[in-house]
Amino acid sequence: MIKFGSSHDVTIDQDKIQQLLAEIQSDPMGGWFNLPDDYDQDELFRIKEAAKAIQQNSDYLVCIGIGGSYLGHRALAEALGLNQGTKLIYVGNSLSTREYQRVLAELEGKDFSINVISKSGTTTEPAIAFRLLKQQLFQKYGDQANARIYATTDQAKGALHDEAVQNHYTQFVVPDNIGGRYSVFSAVGLLPLAVAGASIEELLHGAKLEKATLENPTASAAVRYAWLRHDLLVQNYDVEVLASFEPCLSQLSEWWKQLFGESEGKRQQGIFPASVIYTTDLHSLGQYLQDGRRNIFETVMEVEASPETSLIIPSLDSNLDGLQYLEGKSLDFVNQKALEATVQAHLEGGIPVNEFKIPDLHEKSLGALIYCFEVACALSAKLSGINPFDQPGVEAYKNNMFQLLGKPGY
Ligand code: PA5
Repeated sequence: MIKFGSSHDVTIDQDKIQQLLAEIQSDPMGGWFNLPDDYDQDELFRIKEAAKAIQQNSDYLVCIGIGGSYLGHRALAEALGLNQGTKLIYVGNSLSTREYQRVLAELEGKDFSINVISKSGTTTEPAIAFRLLKQQLFQKYGDQANARIYATTDQAKGALHDEAVQNHYTQFVVPDNIGGRYSVFSAVGLLPLAVAGASIEELLHGAKLEKATLENPTASAAVRYAWLRHDLLVQNYDVEVLASFEPCLSQLSEWWKQLFGESEGKRQQGIFPASVIYTTDLHSLGQYLQDGRRNIFETVMEVEASPETSLIIPSLDSNLDGLQYLEGKSLDFVNQKALEATVQAHLEGGIPVNEFKIPDLHEKSLGALIYCFEVACALSAKLSGINPFDQPGVEAYKNNMFQLLGKPGY
């Protein structure tokens, strides 16, 4: 379903991969691995019922969360181009006053609900966002406000869990055995996506089909990608650039950066994950890629299907702009040629290039791609002897910030 190719050749040790896949599945944080097969149908029903209620009474769903608690559903909502009905709006992923003022102003006069998502239930950015947004919600809806709050958090502990129980918010659970950045196929991602109109069954179906490819590991896109990344790292290619020619995939690149960066960047090791959107970045980072230090490899995401309606470059009486040679061609054709030209130029410039071909930008294909990246990330980290499921490094800034803010106990 997801096709994968590379300029770089490797021989995969199938036994090693089988062993690592077994380790991932039995890891205390490996619960995401079987989600596409084992999804709790009652939970799916509850998600869809909640989504219907939100769609009926809200112009906006305010999604509060940071890192793995928001990047996945934002990535999918933007890639799917969901812009009908209830809109998703995101806060709690920064501490920027200007950004909050923009969001609060956008909500002015609109009906909205809140989905506050925090596995720990104690992360500072979403906690502050929740306070600020609750204020606006209570001003507008008074004692009806609690019915518009949906809390996705731990099932038994944390400040958000306790508040949700006390105030009777509708609750969804982030399972104990699933970490934030692997949680998009849980209620963390599925509730907002259902509200925005995505088919969450099709997303899970795509993930399930991709999971099935692991039965033949050497042919699986996830396995081949993971093995290649590790092989390239061993050869000192320690920066990976994820490239796409579709701006609607830029948030998917943000999710991918978090997934790989937080999973692999430990003990002074790991590949630095970066991203570009072409052709925009061919006029900026393209220069560095073509001619700069040779420690970079590139992974291109190509969408195989053309857009449902095409844009044709019109014919004119004159050729003042010199574009007569493109008359009658579709814009998508030109974009495709730009992709082919870029891959060729980068290969000639000494950059190893991997390519993912995604059939289209619908739920099934995107579900497959997300699952493929999750498996590849876990495998790739494990090939370097790194635990893909913890993130000890994110505590450093928090401790400093709490000290500077005078938090008790710091
Ligand atoms: O991937 C992760 O585990 C992190 O990025 C978390 O998702 C992020 O730190 C938010 O944590 P929480 O959901 O506990 O608020």
